[in-house]
Amino acid sequence: MAQLTVADDEVQLARLAAERVTELIVQAVDTRGHAFVALAGGNTPRRLYLNLADPQQPWRDRIPWSQVHLFWGDERHVPPDHRDSNYGMAKASIIDNVPIPADHVHRIHAELPDAREAALAYERTLASAVSGFSRTTQFDLMLLGLGEDAHIASIFPGSELLADAGPTADVGRPLTRRRVAAVWAPPLGVWRITLTPEVILDSERILVLVAGSKKATAVRAALEEPLDVRTWPAQLLRVAGDRVEWFGDRAAAARL
Ligand code: 6PG
Repeated sequence: MAQLTVADDEVQLARLAAERVTELIVQAVDTRGHAFVALAGGNTPRRLYLNLADPQQPWRDRIPWSQVHLFWGDERHVPPDHRDSNYGMAKASIIDNVPIPADHVHRIHAELPDAREAALAYERTLASAVSGFSRTTQFDLMLLGLGEDAHIASIFPGSELLADAGPTADVGRPLTRRRVAAVWAPPLGVWRITLTPEVILDSERILVLVAGSKKATAVRAALEEPLDVRTWPAQLLRVAGDRVEWFGDRAAAARL
């Protein structure tokens, strides 16, 4: 069963999440000598990232940045300096402000003209990272946000990625189990590059960060409504049981 921490507001939410993220990174480095962390996109995690990088706060100096590797759960199909770039947001809020080695930042090259090529390139990045460190799981820590429609990463309601967890053939390749996919996001009318459900679930720990009353229905659906993953994609996290930790403010948890 997933764990839920309810904060009074977004400020406390980001502080509680910063403490937990720090704990999990330190734990991973102590266990494996490194920590593979997949960052969430969107706006909610920005305050968390600022906390982790703030020298006045108790987290930056506890994190062994030279042993941390950053990845992304998804990316918009835009260049890294675009205002919508998830990498760009993380670069400004955390990467530029902590001593993480440049070659430990494994961004999705979403500037490639064809989103499907960007997905294939990231597929290679993830595969070589796992083999290079002879890991058994893809990530030590996966950070996710939650959309009002209960999407996670760029896995939207009705996504083909929500068919039986298994092969997808969105790039004309033979049906294989993919780690990364390029998806057309109908609600937004844009291409996205996203990790697949299989890879998201292939994480030691998954932290979902959600704030605001607009997310209350999605939180309730994700945690309490009858299983209907195609309608509520975040329900796929139920497979991961207590490896999933939810951090929400009171407004987002109001319908539980
Ligand atoms: C993205 C995210 C997406 C996000 C949710 C919540 O690229 O936008 O991966 O899944 O986490 O849409 O976004 P907010 O935090 O901005 O509400």
